[in-house]
Amino acid sequence: MKKCLVSGGNGFLGSHLIEKCLENGLEVTVVDNFSTMKSSNLPETVNIIDKNVEDFYTEGNFDYVVHLAARPSPEDYIAHPVDTLMSNSLGTLSMLEIARKSKGVFMYTSSSETYGNASIIPTPETYWGNVNFTGIRSCYDEGKRYSEALIMAYMRQFGLDTRIQRPFNVYGPGIRPDGQYGRVVPRFILQALKDEDITVHGKGDQTRSFLYVDDWVEATWKFLTKSGLKGEILNIGSNKEITILELAKIIIEVTGSSSKIVHLDSREDDPFRRSADISKARKILDWTPNTELEVGLINTVKWVRDNYL
Ligand SMILES: NC(=O)c1ccc[n+]([C@@H]2O[C@H](COP(=O)([O-])OP(=O)(O)OC[C@H]3O[C@@H](n4cnc5c(N)ncnc54)[C@H](O)[C@@H]3O)[C@@H](O)[C@H]2O)c1
Repeated sequence: MKKCLVSGGNGFLGSHLIEKCLENGLEVTVVDNFSTMKSSNLPETVNIIDKNVEDFYTEGNFDYVVHLAARPSPEDYIAHPVDTLMSNSLGTLSMLEIARKSKGVFMYTSSSETYGNASIIPTPETYWGNVNFTGIRSCYDEGKRYSEALIMAYMRQFGLDTRIQRPFNVYGPGIRPDGQYGRVVPRFILQALKDEDITVHGKGDQTRSFLYVDDWVEATWKFLTKSGLKGEILNIGSNKEITILELAKIIIEVTGSSSKIVHLDSREDDPFRRSADISKARKILDWTPNTELEVGLINTVKWVRDNYL
């Protein structure tokens, strides 16, 4: 039986990926400190180790080592900048060492945030980024960028089979709203379901492109298990760009809410546009996102309603 180690496996993306791993007969071990996801819905067959990834070591060997542990929600990482940097520097090192010892495949979820306020839209993997590396978001962006550099160094120096993906705004059932501080899709949904004001930062003309979690899992599974992809870096996202104001209006419509849209101050260093050039992932993985935004939102609304109201 093949073995997979997942850091941050108790979180949103991790729990969906683990479902896929179990369906495919893998034995799964998770290391997670329950910092952003407080409780666990993982199946009992998963071996869960409650520990900071940066302090984690194991004698075990794994065919796949997947490093997801991070604090991806902006207000959360801004409130915990040192922890955020540790999980994506020392934590990346811990997981790389385990993969090296295991001679396994190492996969990392970097982020579209490595591109910062991109000047090329849709953004291809070859874009070097436009990032404020000492700014308020740097604990997240630079942790991801440092991790990518360390991973490529492990690939070049030790021949490790590494794969880096840069997800762009993945959403779906399991993504937590976290009150006022969650990521935009679940936050707007919860506000709409409660008929509270929907809080848009700035004018709402900033854009994002959203990827439904099932499409993310399909791409990630292929990227993890397909042979011959050592050293590859792929955007996993969508190129369908919409403004945050449009997103708020769609969510009001699908929830049938009477919420009003209100505007708050813009967030510091918030990228103005974000859209993924996914031509490389389409070609290499023979993959294309196929969940329409409205369909994905309806599924997410149902999950938020069932779990948070
Ligand atoms: N969801 C997205 O849209 C998105 C976009 C870009 C990148 N990513 C990246 O994908 C990964 C997973 O994101 P997610 O959306 O599932 O987030 P999440 O917050 O739902 O899950 C992260 C998990 O990591 C754990 N964790 C955090 N710090 C840890 C530490 N130091 N040691 C051990 N465990 C720790 C948390 O408890 C949580 O279970 C992250 O690396 C994130 O940066 C996600």
